[in-house]
Amino acid sequence: MSKGKKPAARRQSGAAPGKRMNGTKPSEERRGRMTEKMDKDNATRMMTHKVKTARGRKISSKLWLERQLNDPYVKEAQIKGYRSRAAFKIIELDDKFKLIRHDSLICDLGCAPGGWTQIAIERGAKRVVGIDILPVETVAGADLIEMDFMDECASDVLKDRLGGAPSLVMSDLAANTTGHKNTDHLKTIALVEAAAEFAMDVLDKGGDFVTKVFQGGAQSDLLERLRSRFEIVKHAKPKSSRAGSPEIYLVAKNFRG
Ligand SMILES: C[S@@+](CC[C@H](N)C(=O)[O-])C[C@H]1O[C@@H](n2cnc3c(N)ncnc32)[C@H](O)[C@@H]1O
Repeated sequence: MSKGKKPAARRQSGAAPGKRMNGTKPSEERRGRMTEKMDKDNATRMMTHKVKTARGRKISSKLWLERQLNDPYVKEAQIKGYRSRAAFKIIELDDKFKLIRHDSLICDLGCAPGGWTQIAIERGAKRVVGIDILPVETVAGADLIEMDFMDECASDVLKDRLGGAPSLVMSDLAANTTGHKNTDHLKTIALVEAAAEFAMDVLDKGGDFVTKVFQGGAQSDLLERLRSRFEIVKHAKPKSSRAGSPEIYLVAKNFRG
């Protein structure tokens, strides 16, 4: 046991804090030292994970790792066997907007590492067809395609694999950021637009579309298009979406066809 644990261990053995086992009071100076030590012990017990800045590890990586280690959604995802903390976002969105229907066909855009797909299957979807530029480990009940969604053949490949009209197109597509604000913004808009066009192309009548959007919601022209094709169009920020993140979600319900 480390030296710092000793006062706590002694307290467990029955002596009141600040009193010796023989009942005599310690001197003022010693009492001060003991209190200081007990405060340090308490602080150590309450401390969350801290990550040392190893040689070669950037400060941004250290902060990311620290945030991951202290994030309750990351811990909960590990406990429940979900592949991403993002799983909780679709859980919240589904609880609020009733997106995942029983025995339904669902398309998952930007599906890696598979959290949303897992939730769709867990909540009763019959089949999920997903696409990601990254490889995704299999999920029972899902057909996961490794391909760039922006590739000109992607929508045909998806339609072919879907084999019918899905009741939900869900997109968590997020481009790798370059650090150049305008470039990142344009890449994001392009992904959201492509996901929305695809959804309006393939959705079953009465179907729903949910997509990640950034910075103040969808562009106004896209919003107008969506409002003309869906009965309800709303923005939502799930609690599990980090407060500091510019991401929000757009939910469009009841596709008019
Ligand atoms: C936030 S993650 C999705 C997390 C996922 N919903 C989950 O719960 O596991 C965004 C994903 O979008 C994918 N992505 C970004 N651009 C893409 C593209 N052009 N084509 C396919 N996937 C893309 C990324 O590879 C990444 O896996």
